[in-house]
Amino acid sequence: MTNLIEIRGVTHAYKTAAGPLPVLDNLEIAIPEGGFCAVVGPSGCGKSTLTRLIAGLMFPDQGEVWLHGERVRSPRRSVGMAFQNPVLLEWRTILQNVILPLEIVDPRMPKAKKEARARELLALVGLEGFEDKRPSELSGGMRQRASLCRSLVHRPEVLILDEPFGALDAFTREDLWQLMHRLRAEESFTALLITHDLRESVYLADQVVVLSGRPARTQYVLDIDMPGIRPIDMLYTARSVEWLATLRRQIEIAQGRTAEPATSTETAT
Ligand SMILES: Nc1ncnc2c1ncn2[C@@H]1O[C@H](COP(=O)(O)OP(=O)(O)O)[C@@H](O)[C@H]1O
Ligand SMILES: [Mg+2]
Repeated sequence: MTNLIEIRGVTHAYKTAAGPLPVLDNLEIAIPEGGFCAVVGPSGCGKSTLTRLIAGLMFPDQGEVWLHGERVRSPRRSVGMAFQNPVLLEWRTILQNVILPLEIVDPRMPKAKKEARARELLALVGLEGFEDKRPSELSGGMRQRASLCRSLVHRPEVLILDEPFGALDAFTREDLWQLMHRLRAEESFTALLITHDLRESVYLADQVVVLSGRPARTQYVLDIDMPGIRPIDMLYTARSVEWLATLRRQIEIAQGRTAEPATSTETAT
């Protein structure tokens, strides 16, 4: 077993009043242990649906989702999730918000141990000294940092990020991209990032999957072989500009604006 996450021939339709709405069509994605996969695709093509299938919050009509050699048939505790809206609880302090998943996943862990783990992560993301603040006392970028801590506190095998940086201003977003690289170096997880920001996908991922329009198929896979922490100016290198142009073109195909099929050898099914 070399892949930690495998999406095998996943097909899914929502039942709606107007009849079935096909969302995913024979989707194939494989992410090795410790890998970082970014998924990009047109709005409404089924990206968030994919995250719910991986977390075991719903199950596909056809095909299989595998996590660490086990077929997903129930909600998974080994998954951490962060979303565009950090949804922190205002009646809890930042520290208490970060501890929350441990209270659910590992209720018997001693309180001091839970707190130490949360403090360690908060320090790692630069929130030392803010442990006792309420969410409303923090900036948007700080709240998203706290949300990342909460998604990682129980040491999940899989980290699912559904457009977590989408609502932030450009400079804060770049800070958080760099933070993601540091988190990846310090913590061990396999990541799936949903994003509509191609630069974000190129800076963070070692595999970028472009989904077609709904129902989503795996339209294109771009491998970015650059291990380790990447300097932010890697985005301005000729290689990155070429990757971005390729992805941009694939998105246009996915949106149906370009009829021409892709010709690269990197093209998936
Ligand atoms: N629970 C649901 N019931 C019916 N349709 C849904 C449900 N959730 C999402 N959809 C529809 O399925 C499609 C894919 O949704 P989603 O996975 O959220 O797309 P994305 O995250 O790529 O924007 C959209 O057209 C959305 O309206
Ligand atoms: Mg979505």
